Amino acid sequence: MSEPQQVPERDRPVLAASGAVRVRVPAKINVHLGVGPVRDDGYHELATVYQAISLYDELTVTRADDLRLRIAGEGAGQLPLDDDNLVVRAVRALARYVDREPHVHIQLRKQIPVAGGLAGGSADAAAALVACDALWGTGLTRDDLATLAATLGSDVPFLVLGGTALGTGHGEVVSPVLAVGPWHWVVAIADGGLSTPEVYAELDRLREAGRVPAAASDPGPVLAALRQHDPRVLAEALANDLQPAAISLRPALRRTLRAGTEEGALAGIVSGSGPTCVFLAADAEHAKKIATGLAGQGVARAVRVVRGPVPGARIV
Ligand code: C5P
Repeated sequence: MSEPQQVPERDRPVLAASGAVRVRVPAKINVHLGVGPVRDDGYHELATVYQAISLYDELTVTRADDLRLRIAGEGAGQLPLDDDNLVVRAVRALARYVDREPHVHIQLRKQIPVAGGLAGGSADAAAALVACDALWGTGLTRDDLATLAATLGSDVPFLVLGGTALGTGHGEVVSPVLAVGPWHWVVAIADGGLSTPEVYAELDRLREAGRVPAAASDPGPVLAALRQHDPRVLAEALANDLQPAAISLRPALRRTLRAGTEEGALAGIVSGSGPTCVFLAADAEHAKKIATGLAGQGVARAVRVVRGPVPGARIV
C-alpha cells in the first residue's frame, strides 16, 4: 500500500461552504532589535530577529459587491474602517496587482493590541493578503505575496512568513532562522499605545545627545541562543535598541519591566517600539506563575501567556 500523500497547503480547498475564507494571524515580538542609522528614505536600517507568538487576530473575507471592513475586539471603535486601515490598503494593493475589483466584505476579530509594538496592524494586513489571495485563487507564490507585503509595512512580510526570522533592510527582508522551542513568554499589555515613528525619532534624539550608543546592537548572540534549549542563555541575549526611547517616552515601562523580573521572569524587554513588555519564562508553568504575579501588581492592562514560534498568517 502506498503512503498517504501530503496535500501541499496551497492546494488544499480553502473555501468554506459559506464561500468565506478565514485566516488566523499571530502577533510578533522582536527578540533582538538592532537599529542602525536613519536612511535617506526616513527608515532606519535594521537587523532584527522576529518571533511570531500565539496571540492571534482572525480575519474572514467573503465575496461581495463592494469593499467593507468590520472590526470586533481590541481597538474596535478606535480603528479607521476606510483607506487609513492597513487591511483595506492590503486588499486594494492585491486587487490592483491581479487586476480585479477589491470587492470583499472583511470581518476582523482582534486580540492583538493597537499600537502596542506587537505589529497588530501589520498582522491584519498580512492576513488580508493571504485571505484574498485564496478567495480569488490568484496563483501568486508566497514570494509574490511577500513583495506586495513589503509595500504595506516593514513587519508585514514577516507576518506572512511567521516562525522565527532575521529581518534586514528596514525589517521587510526576512529569512527564516533555526530556532528550537517552544519558548514561553508573558506579554504585559499597557494602557494606550506608542507611535512607532515617534519612538524611532526619540531614539535619534537620544543618540544625538550621546545618551545611548549610536551603533546597532549585534543579533549574533540571540541567533546563537535560539539554536539551543536553555532559556537562560536566550534571556541574557535579548536586546532592543528602541527600548531606551520607548522608556523615555513612557517612563512607567521601567516599573513594568522591574515587576516582571521581581515575579521571577528570566528577562524582560520592551516589544518593538512598545509599550507592550514581554518576559521570558523557563517553561509553561513558570510563565503562568509570572503572569499571575504581574496581573496582581497592576502594572499592565492585560497579561497573556503565549508561546513562540508559531506559523504566520494561515487559513483555518
Ligand atoms: O514600515 P512601517 O509603516 O511599519 O513603519 C512606520 C514608521 O516607523 C516609519 O514611517 C518610520 O518612521 C519608522 N520606521 C523606521 N525604521 C524602520 C521601520 C519603521 O524609522 N526600520
